Amino acid sequence: MDKALSGIRILDMTHVQAGPTASQLLAWLGADVIKFEPPTGDVTRSQLRDVPNADSLYFTMLNCNKRSITVNMKNAAGKEVFVALLTKCDVVMENFGPGVLDRLGFSWETIHQINPAVVMASIKGFGSSGPYADFKAYENVAQAMGGAMSTTGFMDGPPLVSGAQIGDSGTGLHLAIGILAALQQRHRTGQGQYVEVAMMDGVMNLCRVKFRDHQRLTRGTLSEFSVPTEGMRDTPRSGNDSGGGQLGNTVKCKPGGPNDYIYVVVQEAVWSALARRVGGEVLAADERFAMIQNRRKNQKDMWRILNEFAAGYTKWEMMGILNEIDVPCGPIMSTNDLANDEHIRLREMFIELDHPERGKWFNVGMPIKLSDSSVPIERSPLLGEHTEEVLRSVLGYSNAQVARLQEGGAFSKDPQKQEHPRP
Ligand SMILES: CC(C)(COP(=O)(O)OP(=O)(O)OC[C@H]1O[C@@H](n2cnc3c(N)ncnc32)[C@H](O)[C@@H]1OP(=O)(O)O)[C@@H](O)C(=O)NCCC(=O)NCCS
Repeated sequence: MDKALSGIRILDMTHVQAGPTASQLLAWLGADVIKFEPPTGDVTRSQLRDVPNADSLYFTMLNCNKRSITVNMKNAAGKEVFVALLTKCDVVMENFGPGVLDRLGFSWETIHQINPAVVMASIKGFGSSGPYADFKAYENVAQAMGGAMSTTGFMDGPPLVSGAQIGDSGTGLHLAIGILAALQQRHRTGQGQYVEVAMMDGVMNLCRVKFRDHQRLTRGTLSEFSVPTEGMRDTPRSGNDSGGGQLGNTVKCKPGGPNDYIYVVVQEAVWSALARRVGGEVLAADERFAMIQNRRKNQKDMWRILNEFAAGYTKWEMMGILNEIDVPCGPIMSTNDLANDEHIRLREMFIELDHPERGKWFNVGMPIKLSDSSVPIERSPLLGEHTEEVLRSVLGYSNAQVARLQEGGAFSKDPQKQEHPRP
């Protein structure tokens, strides 16, 4: 069946989370993604294992709909396979540490020379230029350095990381957009190009509005914040404040468990209906809350009143009450709430899959819905499951060619057969 990216073949050298997020999305959009792994496999195959000897959920949840081929890039025969695949692919993706591909002999210049039409897409912690270029990075390093941590949490506590993987998966999304744009340009020019996303840059992009507030601070205070901002030079941690033009915050519900909260946005348009529902005509006429400026000034009292009201209801009851009067709100949904939510099930956002080593498991589904490009989600590949298939179907290799490469150590992790073993 025709898919959005049918006909696009991707040589996917990515590992861990940031790169695989991008290549999984592209696979779900219909690209043929060949996961090109060292003979030891992507390190996440064995990280945080929950089933002995089975690929971890870390791996299976990020590598669906891909084929796996294992090739030793530190071996001459392995490099030969890499070069051959490069000429048959439209995109090559990687998120190795700084300088890794150069050390293997494949800088962007070399790759472009081998296949001028190939799009090369890289994720680095800090990009290939600037004083931080040589540093490695993981999710929370990027959150720390891209502005997310200093603005997350409460002012009387330490900086916090976000549960959303904005450093890894967020950067993967940026990379996928870059790849699609480069492929589109290639339609006109016939030329590939280098697409680079630095995790620090990606996080900063997602923190854009925090730099809005950073600049507003030079002209005055941030009246929507529930903490005082007089004299501040840095955008403060905003706790659960809405951070937008409307006031918003979490409200505690019964029975008072760790996720028994609902997020309520007190949108200007709904205040009178909300006030009437919570405190009748008296609250609706209360001058302290009549206009948004008053509510900003007296927000502590407003949130106290809303919390007192919500204490009599569960978050689900509150959701019903508030939606009835058109108040934007969201119960804080735990992972268990989401795993069992009817809306999520109907939208195929938590789907059951089978796996030869681990049996039944669940993956988060595809959030981008295309009306003419369906996404049947398939399990992640076993290590090297498609090595022979790819060598034969993509490269057209004969038995004799495969045997010669095997003999040369192309698929072996034997250090004797490596050109430059790791020191
Ligand atoms: C994530 C990260 C910190 C992991 O660091 P690491 O485990 O030391 O891995 P590196 O990417 O630096 O190195 C990979 C090694 O495997 C080797 N390797 C990779 N694929 C190979 C293959 N097919 N055959 C042989 N060797 C291979 C590389 O040559 C390199 O070896 P070297 O160190 O001897 O040069 C690092 O890759 C990084 O900073 N990546 C960019 C930022 C990023 O994406 N981070 C988020 C990850 S979710």
